[in-house]
Amino acid sequence: MSDERARSPAAMGCPIEERTSHTAGGSRTGCSRCAVLCRGARFPGLRAGRDHTRDRSRAGWARATLDGVTVTVWWAAPTDPVSRPDLVALLDEHERQRMAALRRDDDRARYLAAHALTRLVLASRLGGDPAALDMDRTCGCGKPHGKPRLAGHRDAPGFSLTHSGALVGVALGAGPVGVDVERHRPLSDLDGLARHTLSPAERRSGDLGADGFLVTWTRKEALLKATGTGLASPMDAITLSDPGAPARVLDWPDAGGPWWVADVVTPHDDHPGAVAGAGHSAPAITVADGDAVLSVVRGTMSR
Ligand SMILES: CC(C)(COP(=O)(O)OP(=O)(O)OC[C@H]1O[C@@H](n2cnc3c(N)ncnc32)[C@H](O)[C@@H]1OP(=O)(O)O)[C@@H](O)C(=O)NCCC(=O)NCCS
Ligand SMILES: [Zn+2]
Repeated sequence: MSDERARSPAAMGCPIEERTSHTAGGSRTGCSRCAVLCRGARFPGLRAGRDHTRDRSRAGWARATLDGVTVTVWWAAPTDPVSRPDLVALLDEHERQRMAALRRDDDRARYLAAHALTRLVLASRLGGDPAALDMDRTCGCGKPHGKPRLAGHRDAPGFSLTHSGALVGVALGAGPVGVDVERHRPLSDLDGLARHTLSPAERRSGDLGADGFLVTWTRKEALLKATGTGLASPMDAITLSDPGAPARVLDWPDAGGPWWVADVVTPHDDHPGAVAGAGHSAPAITVADGDAVLSVVRGTMSR
């Protein structure tokens, strides 16, 4: 990201939110979010338009079923905490300690980008200081390692974050959402993993191969992150459509209601991504440039 672009978010269109004021001067800028992304070199596969879920069966980019609500997924690269003290300053004490406890540089960079991006897009939607957002991470067991929620905001949007390999992602929607991305990597015990991950019906329908397995894994993780149970719920209780077909929940006896899931395009072909939420059908899904969001903090965002 060039300095010039970082200084001029209004000129390039709003990477955060339609009609949201987030420039230093506070001027309200009309958003050309999708047009910006579709023209961007980092998303060469995207067509102009709002919906960028991948329809694998037709190897194209398909419009998701609309039910009146939009989910936005921002993708960004990891950011080195040493070079971005402005982003570190957005984190709360818990997040700073968690980040500092990570031993590997790339884990810290993923952690920082994911949590700073979460705060920036939430603050953009709700108004106010991203650093002042009060995150509640209480798990069912009482420890602070559960699905993050915003404390003190009754009408807060649903959100979810993910980090893997060269990407971090944040999803925002009106209701509960879950997002997952996984870097493609050799899986040493695919058969063993498949036994724990795939339902009997999925196993009967044949070998998915490593690529198909990873697609199914990201879809199921997105669903379990949307419900908030995470991997404490068995993945093999969920039966999904074939990974080569549009994502669909075929059977999930203990789901407690309908959940949709969709593949979502990422900037890297070897990082499959999925997003999920409550309801019968996927809403419009917009992919947005999280790097642009992170880049404006240092130069232009007033805090
Ligand atoms: C949450 C989980 C699905 C994450 O999967 P992952 O692919 O390793 O990691 P991702 O990068 O996609 O997502 C991690 C983020 O999900 C969020 N998260 C954590 N628990 C979550 C949950 N139950 N539901 C939704 N999101 C959750 C956090 O923000 C976390 O990021 P952070 O650790 O930087 O704060 C998985 O680690 C999990 O289920 N863990 C809980 C296991 C469990 O049940 N433990 C027993 C608790 S008593
Ligand atoms: Zn717990």
